Amino acid sequence: MKEIDWDKLGFDAYRTRTVIVSHFKDGKWSPIEKTETFSFTFDPFAQVFHYAISCFEGLKAFTQKDGRKVMFRPDENAARLQRTARYLGLPVPTKEMFIEMCKECVLNNLEFLPPYGHQASMYIRPLLVGMHPQMQLVPYPEAIFAVMCAPVGSYYGEHLRSFAGVIPGNYDRAAPKGSGSYKIGANYASTFEPYKIAHEQGYTELLYLNSQTREYIDEFGSSNFFAIEGNKYITPLSDSVLPSITNKSLQQVAKDFGMEVEKRKIPVGELSEFEEAAACGTAVVITPMSHIDIKPVLEEPEVSASYRFFDDGEVGPACQKLYKQITGIQFGELPDAHGWCYEI
Ligand SMILES: Cc1ncc(COP(=O)(O)O)c(C=O)c1O
Repeated sequence: MKEIDWDKLGFDAYRTRTVIVSHFKDGKWSPIEKTETFSFTFDPFAQVFHYAISCFEGLKAFTQKDGRKVMFRPDENAARLQRTARYLGLPVPTKEMFIEMCKECVLNNLEFLPPYGHQASMYIRPLLVGMHPQMQLVPYPEAIFAVMCAPVGSYYGEHLRSFAGVIPGNYDRAAPKGSGSYKIGANYASTFEPYKIAHEQGYTELLYLNSQTREYIDEFGSSNFFAIEGNKYITPLSDSVLPSITNKSLQQVAKDFGMEVEKRKIPVGELSEFEEAAACGTAVVITPMSHIDIKPVLEEPEVSASYRFFDDGEVGPACQKLYKQITGIQFGELPDAHGWCYEI
C-alpha cells in the first residue's frame, strides 16, 4: 500500500480495500459479504439507472486522542436511511444491520483510518440502490446495500476559514412537497451544473430558497444553513431540507453553551441582521460564510443584493466555538456528554 500523507487528504473517492455488501432478494437480506474487487454487476434495466432509485448516507469514523476508534452518531444515519428507503419503495435495512456494516467497513479498512493528530477522519458512505430490471414505475423489493469508505482531510487544517455563497435566482433544489428532505441521489443531480457555474465565479456554496415562494432560506446544495444573531442559533424550519445530523448536534451544543435555538422560517432579507451565517454537514462540520450574494440569474453578472458577514477567510467567534466543540467531541478531546461517539 502506498503511504498516505494524512495531512494532505482532500475529500475524494479514495480507493480503499474492502466494500461491505448485502443483497435483498426473495424477501430477505443476504449474509454480509466483503468484496475487494470494487465493482458491481447490474442488469442494464436495473431501476437505479433509469429511474434514479438510489439513496445514500454519509458519516465519519475517527481515531480519538486515547486511540479509541469511534463512529459519530451512526444510529441517526441509520434512521435517516430507513426513512429515505421507504420513500423510494426500497427494502429497508435494519438499524443493527446498518451499524454492523459500517463497523465492518471500518474494521476491514483499518489501514486507511487516519491516526489521531492530523485533523483527518474516515468518511463512510452507505449506498442503497434498486437492482430490479423493469420498465414499470412501481417499487420492487430487490436492492443492493453497500458500505464503502475513504480517508478524508479536515479541509481547513487547524483553522476555520470563511467562503463566499450565492443564492441562484434561476435554480431550485427541491419541489414543494417533493423529495428535498430525503437523501436521494436525484436531489444532487440538479445541483451539479449550478455548482460548476458558481465555482467558476468564485463562490464555494449555493444557497437555495424555498421553491414555492422564494421568500425563505432552505439550505445549501450539500449542507444545512444556520445563522447567529446575538445569543441565538437560528436554522430554517422547512419540509424541503435534509434533516442534518450535524445541525442537530450543533443545536444541542449551542443549547449546552446557553444559547437560544430557533428553528423557524427565515426570510431571505433577514440575512442583513445576522452576525454570522454558515453551512453545516458531516464533510466539513461548519463552512462559515464571508458573504452571500443574490444573483437573479446565476450565469449573468448582476448581483441584486449582497450580505457581508466577514472579510474573505475571516471567521466569527460563534462558528469557531461550535466547530471546536463538535470536532473536540469527535476526536475524544472533550467529554462526550450526549453519548454521540459509538466505539467500534
Ligand atoms: C443537502 C444536504 N443537506 C444537509 C446535509 C448535512 O447533513 P449531515 O449533517 O447529516 O451530514 C447534507 C449532507 O452532508 C446534504 O447533502
